[in-house]
Amino acid sequence: MAASLQLNARHFSPSFQPFHSSSTKSSKPNLVRCSAATHSSKRSYKITLLPGDGIGPEVISVAKDVLVLAASFEGIKFEFREMLLGGAALDATGVPLPDETLAVSKESDAVLLGAIGGYKWDKNEKRLKPETGLLQIREGLKVFANLRPATVFPQLVDASTLKREVAEGVDLMVVRELTGGIYFGKPRGFGTNENGEETGFNTEIYAKHEIDRITRVAFEIARKRRGKLCSVDKSNVLEASMFWRRRVQEISAEYPDIELSHMYVDNAAMQLVRYPKQFDTIVTNNIFGDILSDEASMITGSIGMLPSASLGDSGPGLFEPIHGSAPDIAGQDKANPCATVLSAAMLLRYGLGEDKAADRIENAVLDTLNKGFRTGDIHSAGTKLVGCKQLGEEIMKSVDSQAPAVV
Ligand SMILES: NC(=O)c1ccc[n+]([C@@H]2O[C@H](COP(=O)([O-])OP(=O)(O)OC[C@H]3O[C@@H](n4cnc5c(N)ncnc54)[C@H](O)[C@@H]3O)[C@@H](O)[C@H]2O)c1
Repeated sequence: MAASLQLNARHFSPSFQPFHSSSTKSSKPNLVRCSAATHSSKRSYKITLLPGDGIGPEVISVAKDVLVLAASFEGIKFEFREMLLGGAALDATGVPLPDETLAVSKESDAVLLGAIGGYKWDKNEKRLKPETGLLQIREGLKVFANLRPATVFPQLVDASTLKREVAEGVDLMVVRELTGGIYFGKPRGFGTNENGEETGFNTEIYAKHEIDRITRVAFEIARKRRGKLCSVDKSNVLEASMFWRRRVQEISAEYPDIELSHMYVDNAAMQLVRYPKQFDTIVTNNIFGDILSDEASMITGSIGMLPSASLGDSGPGLFEPIHGSAPDIAGQDKANPCATVLSAAMLLRYGLGEDKAADRIENAVLDTLNKGFRTGDIHSAGTKLVGCKQLGEEIMKSVDSQAPAVV
């Protein structure tokens, strides 16, 4: 399933102690988000849960149960704190990211997020939108690298909108820069041009260190995958992209074993639906990564299957499904929990270095699909339509039975 990858060791220095810490040790080892590394000797972790809005609480509930069960087989214990984010936080506290949510998240070993947003808050001013809370927590945790695997599950290849021969075997990773670029660049705002006409404007800007660090993460990931990295930019038009390409090229000298290529974003968007198997690891900026990773997700058939991990240099990683809060199906037990369950597996693998428990979860998801269980978004003739809760129960049974996946 998810490719193995190696990221840097991190140091952890807590400054805030809101967790009940009866079972945690006072000194924490460096954790290595690395499937090749041996796992940390620490076997008790603080996890912050941010269920959010819409289907968020439904999928987080399933993922939490699966996480606890899979980890218990490896002797791992968790302390959970559930905190408010997004619309739920707005309703309860008046802001989309309460200070306490950020403080507890920062103090934990990893953060598992459901989804935020909904019709109710759509007309709020920007600082009071659920989405603002999401951007704020990513910024607050300083998670600059967003890893989005797009893997076509053999069992779901016919759910892809692409022809079987195009979709089959696709296994790529989009590494998206998450805390810079046009989503954060200044100046930004609304104004009036020289003709007196109203305008809206944003700034695409990258500093050298921002490009260098995401590029190194991407090279490390490519090294643990199939050794190919494609950097996507728009350097035929944008100065920020010209600089991006120059930095990526320069950093590539540190990775002579990795095959580096460059592609303009318009071509990359086209190649993803023409011949997606050509890609192994893609590295790109915030806005291009946002769009391309959603496009890549559709190759796999359902947005409900895809996890993501957001990592920084230090501190906890943020793990979340790539889908939104799906208000159209919220509260109806129709949500596919797999993306969040697989995000929990990424949390174990890349956040805690607990590969065995991660393998157990990923195998259980494959096993459950092999048995034919499907939520509505991935249902097809001949498979068993179940709700979010039942799919979760089936995944739990597979975790419990240790059934090896037949892929
Ligand atoms: N990371 C996040 O929390 C995040 C990401 C994207 C959108 N949003 C927010 O979510 C809200 C809805 O946005 P949207 O409709 O554009 O995107 P969405 O991802 O919520 O839904 C798009 C479509 O996919 C379906 N879908 C999504 N996840 C599913 C799942 N797990 N199982 C089955 N079907 C699933 C939905 O029912 C819907 O038809 C908005 O408020 C938006 O701002 C949040």
